[in-house]
Amino acid sequence: MSFPKDFLWGASTSSAQVEGGFDKGGRGLSIWDTKVLNEGTCSFHYASDHYSHYKEDIALMAEMGFKAYRFSISWSRIMPDGEKEVNQEGLDFYTNLFEELKKYDIEPIVTIFHFDLPLALQEKYGGWNNRDMIDVYVNYCKVLFENYDKYVKYWLTFNEQNMLIFFGAFDMLGGTKKLNSQNDLYNQAHIQLVAQAKAIHLCHKMCSNALIGPAPNITTSYPATSNPMDYIASLNMDDLRNNFYLDALCFGRYPKSVERYFEWNNVVLDVHEGDFELMKTCKPDFIGFNCYGNDTTEYIEYEEVNFSELLTGDNRDLSYLIKLMEKPGVGRAVSNNYFFKGEDGHLFDPYCIRVTARRLTDRYHLPLIITENGYGRKDILEEDGSIHDSYRIEHLKETIKEMELGIKEGANIIGYCPWSAIDLVSTREGISKRYGFIYVDRDEDDEKAKNSEMKRYKKDSFYWYKEVISSNGEKL
Ligand code: BG6
Repeated sequence: MSFPKDFLWGASTSSAQVEGGFDKGGRGLSIWDTKVLNEGTCSFHYASDHYSHYKEDIALMAEMGFKAYRFSISWSRIMPDGEKEVNQEGLDFYTNLFEELKKYDIEPIVTIFHFDLPLALQEKYGGWNNRDMIDVYVNYCKVLFENYDKYVKYWLTFNEQNMLIFFGAFDMLGGTKKLNSQNDLYNQAHIQLVAQAKAIHLCHKMCSNALIGPAPNITTSYPATSNPMDYIASLNMDDLRNNFYLDALCFGRYPKSVERYFEWNNVVLDVHEGDFELMKTCKPDFIGFNCYGNDTTEYIEYEEVNFSELLTGDNRDLSYLIKLMEKPGVGRAVSNNYFFKGEDGHLFDPYCIRVTARRLTDRYHLPLIITENGYGRKDILEEDGSIHDSYRIEHLKETIKEMELGIKEGANIIGYCPWSAIDLVSTREGISKRYGFIYVDRDEDDEKAKNSEMKRYKKDSFYWYKEVISSNGEKL
């Protein structure tokens, strides 16, 4: 058997996407509450109403046999203005949630920040592109460490920081279609990395038994062909998309090839004395990473990239995201014919975790938790209450098979928490794009959702995952 005895089988969610209750319990607004929505998609206001259903949801997770549950804390529920008043009702909500998890012996894996910045901070500081945000974030961490140290062993500093930068030509989260400059983006990345390094130091000081690490979205770049320039492109793409963030927190430096990219794009980092020392000495205890599929990269020459056509584009289109991945002088993303063709025709990369976890183990020598992986699709609720999501089972099964081989080959993976434990609102595609093992009965209509019961149903994947967990990955 390849999966370690105490392997952390579970699944993930995030506060803004699952909780709802945006105006309940003294919560302040977050940038997701005012986000410009794609036509036809619901808001994040009611989400899956986990805020009221958390006991039922955790009981269902326990029924699946979860050993771990990765979720995020809503910053604006804890601190409505993001930095001063602490909201006791917000603290109590998570205390109750932790108690519920404890009841079933489910290990919480807690993301401190998963995209939903308090709106007040956005308005006051202009978001992350302001060094004041470092102390504001660390102050929020301090409140969490003080209150939840007794419940939390695994803290995650930041969800997918790298995607906010890598796809950040436009502010896809705030929902604006304003072009961001590379200089602003990479300075923001630097600020966020210093903030995380400080949070890791603080956690080690305040929480004697806790472990803390980042949670970026990490892939490995396959070269598009055996052309050496494609191989060089894939190395440079890995540096820019992935290694930049992890090298900073694990080694206290940025990859050299990224400096070259900065020169081309006139990026000048505002580095303060001590920034790199903070990163070098913070020492994450593990790496959490989201992994949905590796990239395939083809070399492209440097020339100014023009994103303006995307100003009117639909950010749900795959071509939109592929365009955002175009990094002149480095490479562009291309399709890969070697991927697995699923029963519903979708192409996916079951090797992503196997390959990337091996690469990370070799580079950083730290334990790894897969904090996201999965398949979003429009599920159909049948009249008898069943949901036949064989395509999701197939996707997860093929990925877990490869993950197991990765462990045999030396990848130090200690947990697997696919996205998502329960249906929740997708970042750009509403509730119709579902990822969960548990179906939530609501549609895109917010008015209906507001007073809806949001009944939960078990998908076929629910029963399948239960077997996977109880056999510790033997029965796939
Ligand atoms: C990850 C994010 O990038 O992918 C999640 O951490 C997100 O918040 C998930 O929901 C799936 O992406 P999407 O766009 O389908 O919701």
